[in-house]
Amino acid sequence: MQMVELIKTRRTVRRYLPKKIDMDILTELVDCGRLAPSGINKQPLAFHIIQKQELLEPVFRTLSWGGLIAPKGTPGEGEKPAAYIVVLVRREFPEPTARYDAAAAIQNMILAAWSYGIGSCWIGSVKRSELAQTLHIPEDYYIDSVVALGYPAESPIAEDSEETTRYYKDEEGVLHVPKRPLSTILFVD
Ligand SMILES: Cc1cc2nc3c(=O)[nH]c(=O)nc-3n(C[C@H](O)[C@H](O)[C@H](O)COP(=O)(O)O)c2cc1C
Repeated sequence: MQMVELIKTRRTVRRYLPKKIDMDILTELVDCGRLAPSGINKQPLAFHIIQKQELLEPVFRTLSWGGLIAPKGTPGEGEKPAAYIVVLVRREFPEPTARYDAAAAIQNMILAAWSYGIGSCWIGSVKRSELAQTLHIPEDYYIDSVVALGYPAESPIAEDSEETTRYYKDEEGVLHVPKRPLSTILFVD
């Protein structure tokens, strides 16, 4: 897929096929995150891959899904993520630069995942202290976000809307994601 098409077709996916993701691919995603732009090139991030069966459920329990369509955004049994990448930031680095770095790395990983046909959900709504305990995260790191990953079991649709930014599911369970039209947000000269 060409880069622009990749960017435009990527959607947040919250329902996944029960299919494992190769460890080599997961490692490649983190490598893409590692190479993202970084303020003053400080590189304050670290990444924790979760793919072991016995850890998937405890991580899942710390995450909130699709707040605007709850509870329909939460993956059901057999639809849960196959892996997670937990994005960590070293506390010694100043905000907001470190948070920008995390966002750049996450977007790299999400797009790289999509290039492999892997869907993802960037999750900011995380019970961070519970997750840090579960994963034994060292004290000098905090959790920025969690990226949930899996082969898609849904195909959400992006559509221009001036009326609303609220995503919704239709009667068939298809997720629709409104996007502000280019003509309303683009200023030139
Ligand atoms: C910073 C950030 C935090 C997010 N947190 C969550 C979250 O906690 N749970 C969730 O289900 N989706 C979360 N999302 C995904 C957004 O809901 C999603 O990107 C948005 O609805 C637009 O859909 P799209 O990614 O398909 O364009 C988050 C996205 C971003 C950028």
